Amino acid sequence: MTSISVIGAGYVGLVTGLGLADLGHRVTCVDMDPVRLDAIDSGRVPFHEPGLDELLARNLGTTFSVTDDLDLAVRESSVTFLAVGTPSDENGIDLTFVEAACADLGRVIADKPDQHVVVVKSTVVPGTTDGPVTAALERASGKAAGDEFSVAANPEFLTEGRAVVDFFEPDRIVIGVDDPHAEAVLREVYRSFADTPLVVTNARTAEMIKYASNALLATMISFTNELANLGAAVGGIDTTEVMTGVHLSRYLTSYTDEGPVRAEISSFLEAGCGFGGSCLPKDVAALSAHAASVGSGHVVLDAVLDTNRNQPGELVGLVEQELGTLESKAVVVLGLAFKPDTSDIRESPAIPVIERLLAGGATVKVHDPVVRLEDLPDAISSAVTQVTDLHEAVESGEALVLVTRWDQYQELPALLDALSQPPLLVDGRRVIDPRSVARYAGIGHS
Ligand code: UDX
Ligand code: UDX
Repeated sequence: MTSISVIGAGYVGLVTGLGLADLGHRVTCVDMDPVRLDAIDSGRVPFHEPGLDELLARNLGTTFSVTDDLDLAVRESSVTFLAVGTPSDENGIDLTFVEAACADLGRVIADKPDQHVVVVKSTVVPGTTDGPVTAALERASGKAAGDEFSVAANPEFLTEGRAVVDFFEPDRIVIGVDDPHAEAVLREVYRSFADTPLVVTNARTAEMIKYASNALLATMISFTNELANLGAAVGGIDTTEVMTGVHLSRYLTSYTDEGPVRAEISSFLEAGCGFGGSCLPKDVAALSAHAASVGSGHVVLDAVLDTNRNQPGELVGLVEQELGTLESKAVVVLGLAFKPDTSDIRESPAIPVIERLLAGGATVKVHDPVVRLEDLPDAISSAVTQVTDLHEAVESGEALVLVTRWDQYQELPALLDALSQPPLLVDGRRVIDPRSVARYAGIGHS
């Protein structure tokens, strides 16, 4: 059992903290947001994530607690995970929160007798843990990294909507350490995962593994979307069929005695209105900016982002093409979350889709099983109306624009079939069979 403090009870910090507590470690999550702390302390998870409520109920008050007292939490632990947010824009990653947390941490480490281990869980560009993080900790503590305290990078690979499963059944654990004490402590923290591949490397390589993993997924999505647009421009090509053919390659499908087994990575080769979320767009942008700052090439990364920025416009273009104009047309956007099974709208393609529809003069209604109108940016929530019932939603517009792959949208063909004058369905995720609805348009379908 290790005593652990986690700074940042956000998405990553809370899943990691509760997961480690459930494995028997003693975990305290520190956060500066009193509303968030109150919610967690009274047993409520402040965001939608399957299985996390149960984990909180099981561990709160026994192996898990929350506090705003960083000093005490760090003093009573031997390891601190840093899980504060790392926003980024085209200029690169913003380390304000990480550096502020390091300054606070360093002041506690200054008179802590043991060799405290600081583990960077937040996604940071290669060279951050052994660079600015170490410098900030050394400055604030007056101690030397490696001798008097340790630093490590330990990126997370949690997928929203299945983060709890990802925590307990990881495909890999990556530990970036530059001293043996940090390695020994992290091996102990992850002792329960004896069967999971463990990559022990230096801190900057560990940081790069995280970016390389996300950049690969983003590249595959933009690759498919560029092909989808190309197929539509040529005409008479259905990208879904193209990709079915591609997926059957033995590189993507294993042919076993039980039959063909499609590789999981194939799920990133589906055409659509683009990737969103808190990781892929931000991480590719941060890696590209980092490449520029060290004088290295980044044309592929930039092209991945360009294609992705273009996709919401492709989708709205289809609506305009089919309706003739957007002016005064009633359009229903189906799905606000950046992907199903989450309430997260960060970087969701739904936002630029709605903005473009509004700019074109359309009257926009929105439907999402989880996201509420007040979660949207003010400029949008004040300009659209929400329809909570899917039956009502399909009757509310001349066009339905499917943006998120929610399971319940599989009912659309049946719902549309029941209408005497079904609206146009514009499929931004290619999840509906074009032959199953009367009026269909979709990304990569012509
Ligand atoms: C995480 C990772 O940290 C990020 O690097 C990764 O790329 C995506 O996921 P996330 O957990 O989603 O970020 O961030 P967020 O939900 O914003 O949570 C951060 C939490 O830290 C918030 O609750 C915030 O109140 C808290 N915080 C932030 C502090 O307690 N102290 C600070 O100084 C800054
Ligand atoms: C991702 C990675 O999957 C995870 O391993 C990493 O740790 C964090 O980033 P997440 O952002 O939660 O996880 O969601 P993911 O399921 O990867 O979807 C990302 C985005 O890509 C979504 O907006 C999704 O709609 C989109 N997507 C996915 C596509 O546009 N096309 C596809 O073929 C697949």
